[in-house]
Amino acid sequence: MKARLIDGRAKAEQLQQMVADQVTKLAVKPGLAVVLVGSDPASEIYVKSKIRRTKEVGMKSFFHFLESNTSEEEIITLIEHLNNDPEVHGILVQLPLPAHINQVRVIEKISPSKDVDGFTVTNAGRLANRLPSLTPCTPLGCLMLIEDAVENLEGKVVAIIGSSNVVGRPLIQLMLKQNCTVLVIHRYTQNPSELVRTADIVVVAAGVPGLVRGNWVKPGAVVIDVGINRITEGNHSLIVGDVAFDEVVDIASAITPVPGGVGPMTIACLLSNTLSAYSAQTSKQTN
Ligand code: GUN
Repeated sequence: MKARLIDGRAKAEQLQQMVADQVTKLAVKPGLAVVLVGSDPASEIYVKSKIRRTKEVGMKSFFHFLESNTSEEEIITLIEHLNNDPEVHGILVQLPLPAHINQVRVIEKISPSKDVDGFTVTNAGRLANRLPSLTPCTPLGCLMLIEDAVENLEGKVVAIIGSSNVVGRPLIQLMLKQNCTVLVIHRYTQNPSELVRTADIVVVAAGVPGLVRGNWVKPGAVVIDVGINRITEGNHSLIVGDVAFDEVVDIASAITPVPGGVGPMTIACLLSNTLSAYSAQTSKQTN
């Protein structure tokens, strides 16, 4: 039997519409500042799409482009300016930064209350300690798709393949918070397929095309594919995930396609985080 396809585009549109409906009611609009350093082609595409969708929901968009040879101090000066700008409620520094920049030092300058990517140590620690936090967008999007696909998450075994700061690690915390049993699979894991086969839910964010084969998946499991890999086949290039889709679609009960699964959720969650950041900042001023 073929797995149900999880429609990330539809879910993202729904979430984006909910954000837009909230923004309409606000006299003062939330503002999101995006900082891009250098001209990495993939980052340029992501940033353009973030700006377009910020405007679509009626928020203010502020875009700062800095040349690739900009110094760390100049980037930090800009962040400090944005931290103090009352029109800016969310700050996003597009990653990766050029090699000469200390990424951790730059991200740590973002005020945790405006850290809509949830990348600061403060927000990561708050999430790990089950305190309210701004949560990284891609894992948050994964959780929303999982919640739609699985009725009761308590006690479910989730295999998370990939342990990056951006996806795997925050997702571990999110799934723990849902009382799941969490398996973390990474490049040093022995017999990954055996472990993954015990999971009710599989999330893969490894950046390896076709890593998860049909025989890695327990029949009826829910499979979430975070991978976005550009590969060339013959004379054309296409985007594929980290799951061998044609094999796994016959084994899983539900699966995200690539494209059209997790991808669209990321920006929708960014907008939702920006609205949350705005609400927290503005309610503080009136209390
Ligand atoms: N680069 C790749 N993914 C992301 C993301 O979620 N946020 C930022 N800021 N940069 C990224």
